Amino acid sequence: MAEEHDLVVIGGGPAGYAAALYGAAAGIDVALVEESKLGGTCLHVGCIPAKELLETASVLRTVREAGAFGVEAGEPVVDLAISQSRKQGVVDNLTKGLTGLLAGRKVTVHAGTGTLGVDHTVTVDGDEPAVLQAPHIVLATGSSPRTIPGFDVDGTLVVTSDELLSITEVPERVAVIGGGAIGCEFASLLADLGSAVTLLEAMPEILPGCDVDAAKAVRRAFKKRMIDVHVGVSVHGHDPSDGATTVRFGEDGAVGVDLVVVAVGRRPRGDAAGLVGTRVEVDERGFVEVDERLRTGEPGVYAVGDVVATPQLAHVGFAEGMFVVRDLLGEQPTPVDPATVPWCIYSHPEVAFAGMTEAAAREAGHDVVVSSHRFIGNGRAMIVGDTDGLVKVVAEKDPDGRAGRILGVHLVGPWVTEQLGQGYLAVNWEATVDEVAAFIQPHPTLSELFGETVLSLTGRSLHG
Ligand code: NAI
Repeated sequence: MAEEHDLVVIGGGPAGYAAALYGAAAGIDVALVEESKLGGTCLHVGCIPAKELLETASVLRTVREAGAFGVEAGEPVVDLAISQSRKQGVVDNLTKGLTGLLAGRKVTVHAGTGTLGVDHTVTVDGDEPAVLQAPHIVLATGSSPRTIPGFDVDGTLVVTSDELLSITEVPERVAVIGGGAIGCEFASLLADLGSAVTLLEAMPEILPGCDVDAAKAVRRAFKKRMIDVHVGVSVHGHDPSDGATTVRFGEDGAVGVDLVVVAVGRRPRGDAAGLVGTRVEVDERGFVEVDERLRTGEPGVYAVGDVVATPQLAHVGFAEGMFVVRDLLGEQPTPVDPATVPWCIYSHPEVAFAGMTEAAAREAGHDVVVSSHRFIGNGRAMIVGDTDGLVKVVAEKDPDGRAGRILGVHLVGPWVTEQLGQGYLAVNWEATVDEVAAFIQPHPTLSELFGETVLSLTGRSLHG
């Protein structure tokens, strides 16, 4: 006899646990199947541990630069064992909190691998095997790091984000392959910790998907920090010798390193939940095929999170998990629009954006006006001693030639991941430049720069 529920979720990462928690909060009976750890990539080998270690880097920078404020702290030394144990403490606390939340909402959690078969039946293969059935199923099986030919991940000389987050020693020389969000965050982290970092990106600019001015600002700041960035280079392979290796790239580039970090994207795990005998389709990249309501080809079966071809971000997973619950309840929610979700990258400097890049807006046929201002002129940025970066706002040009609706907001600089809120709302509320310019920004704040940039688009600025 199958155990009956209203909803069975396969995968306990952000997308899956959001569906489970939100479903339970809505009063339906939910089971969640997880084969590894509750919290998934984000909590164990992604967002949380990465940002925790990046905070160690930030503390280190602050102490290093303390002398400029007249605070003599000497040359700081990192004890990575303590950093790692603090990181683990944060992860463990959050895992405990999540476990408690699921229990509190009476979600039935099964430890094991869930396989979806015919008739909405989910077989759990684990220490306590079970067979579950529900009218609605959510597939949330996530993703795993991609690798590239010629770079076998051995966990010591060649690693992905999974292993890098647990390093116990700071490598002297590192090559990071891939200049996306993960590559830039790790390049930044390792440079702060004292490694000599070479960043190798195949595309003409790092951070593809970001506005090009934002990406350039990061590249400039990386250069100042002695990160050796190469763009437009393909990586051919590496030649290990004596515990180190030489990475070959571009026409005749080569760099000797003690560690290679492969950060070339994440592969969706569309095949992780069986699906034999169902009408769920998986494309050649490994993504589960869904429509804009995240419905698969099998009625009643949804897919959410990294396993579908929407931005692979934990907060997009949360939104999708909640969306499908509302959809199955017949509430007609508005689908998540991948084009306007917030993005936050925690390198130093940080990057945050929402909406269209200038290039994407022009490509989509918009007549655009753009304004950008640099943090170097912002009082608070000078006070905190962190003036690298800019705010760029992309707006649609009205027929009268004035700046109208805000299409995109792009930030690079100190704590911009905490400053995106206004820009995100402006884009998603389809606010105009005039509307947002009327809002008062507290002084002195970093967020004044966003206000100033929008104000300048009205044709009259104050400080800029
Ligand atoms: P990504 O797809 O964002 O970036 C991978 C980069 O590697 C691309 O720039 C690509 O051009 C480059 N690349 C691919 N093959 C290469 C090769 N052979 N040689 C040199 N460069 C090569 O993937 P990433 O950074 O690994 O992140 C995976 C996913 O996780 C992304 O969707 C990302 O947005 C998300 N993520 C987001 C974070 C954030 O928002 N803070 C942090 C970490 C991950």
